[in-house]
Amino acid sequence: MADLKSITRNELNQEVVFTALLVDIKIKSTKNDKKYADLTVQDATMKREIKLWDINQDDPLLDLCEEPAVVEICALVGEYQGRLQLTVKKITEIDRDSVDMSALIPSSKWNYEQMQQWLTEFRDKIKTLPVQTLVDRMVFQAPYYEKYCTYPAAKSVHHNFRHGILQHTLEVLKYCIMVATTKKLSQRQIDRLIAMAFLHDWAKIIEYEPLPSNQFSDEGKMLGHIFIGAHYTQKTIDTIDEFDRDDALIILNGILGHHGALEWGSPVLPKTVEAQILHQADKLSGDVESILSFMQEQENAKEPFTERLWNMSTEFYKGGIS
Ligand SMILES: [Fe+2]
Ligand SMILES: [Fe+2]
Repeated sequence: MADLKSITRNELNQEVVFTALLVDIKIKSTKNDKKYADLTVQDATMKREIKLWDINQDDPLLDLCEEPAVVEICALVGEYQGRLQLTVKKITEIDRDSVDMSALIPSSKWNYEQMQQWLTEFRDKIKTLPVQTLVDRMVFQAPYYEKYCTYPAAKSVHHNFRHGILQHTLEVLKYCIMVATTKKLSQRQIDRLIAMAFLHDWAKIIEYEPLPSNQFSDEGKMLGHIFIGAHYTQKTIDTIDEFDRDDALIILNGILGHHGALEWGSPVLPKTVEAQILHQADKLSGDVESILSFMQEQENAKEPFTERLWNMSTEFYKGGIS
């Protein structure tokens, strides 16, 4: 049985069999108005699009990706315009309990114990006690900690894998600390910056359904992680004695402003240097991860350039990496 990444040109014109999660189905039409589907399947190694010809609107298959189904697929490996193209010969749903789900869900490549240790070390860098208590209550206490450490940070684009929020938060914390120490910010500013980095995407544990679902929760659709994050932060601050008003305002502005622009979903702009550093660190972490994972997905294609990465509006050069 193949994993998705191991299917290469060596299998051209052969049939391969693999188990995968069916995460998306897009129905399309040919020029002659025949319906077909682009299925997106994934296992722990990668996501792939595969073709399913001749499909009709009431095919029961179309219900399978709501709660991603585990499927066994037999596919023919072909080539179209220089790229590998897999065409479904047979697809069967299989019982979730009969497979090792960790083989189907991509996970951070960073060591999990190491990530947890770093997280604790960053919390302990906060010297303003009420601010440290805020981070401790929202991140390190049940029921939040386990979700914070396992949820993905996005549906797609960047850090969309198990432990995604954790890895992304650690990247943002590292970038923030580097700028803060280079520019010699005060300990008070550093404390606020660490807290806002910890909390900026915290609400993704509420915005998304747990893995392997690829869906937003009702709260996620209706409210979004920026509002939910600020709301929970305010509620938690209200339970902490002697929380400084400026600390509260600045941390809340950092969470609300972290997307950096009104058209990117932030209701207010970053109004402090800490909030602007957070926004830039957040963008850097997301952008770099999205380029690297896109290049990795396409490393087996012959061309020296990737396809166009939509959120960067350009293709990326794969030559000279190793
Ligand atoms: Fe965000
Ligand atoms: Fe983020």
